[in-house]
Amino acid sequence: MCDYCGCRELTPIGELSAEHEEITERAGALERRLAAGEDATAELVALQLALGPHLHKEERGLFAQLARHPEFAGYLERLGTDHASARAVLLRVTRADLESAPALLAGLRELETHIETEEFDFFPASRLILDDESWSEVAEAHLRANADHPHPATTG
Ligand SMILES: [Fe+2]
Ligand SMILES: [Fe+2]
Repeated sequence: MCDYCGCRELTPIGELSAEHEEITERAGALERRLAAGEDATAELVALQLALGPHLHKEERGLFAQLARHPEFAGYLERLGTDHASARAVLLRVTRADLESAPALLAGLRELETHIETEEFDFFPASRLILDDESWSEVAEAHLRANADHPHPATTG
């Protein structure tokens, strides 16, 4: 955990960033397996286990609070579309689909771009716009999300 950047403190954003690292690692492992032409089933499942709960947590926490700010409407629509696409492709891919790597690889590229947008644009903007009450709501939503869908990165 970085000690210098406020974004990496143990806040809801720190939690989401830790999950991004986990997801990025798992996506990389999956790609390496696919590139080597090896069985990537375990890596696919590991990515899906981390990604599903993460999308849910962002939507219930940060997205829900920012939806109260009309100026974020277009932005949230774009990020929401990314989430829908991740669900339609990455979370729906099964072992049998691993043969059709192009769609999966395109989905992984989209996910990479999405995470960069959140890390470098969306999270910093959130820090500027949300007040303490909203952050408490986000933290509460994270606790509920963690209870409903334990995430590998936050449950050890
Ligand atoms: Fe997201
Ligand atoms: Fe995210």
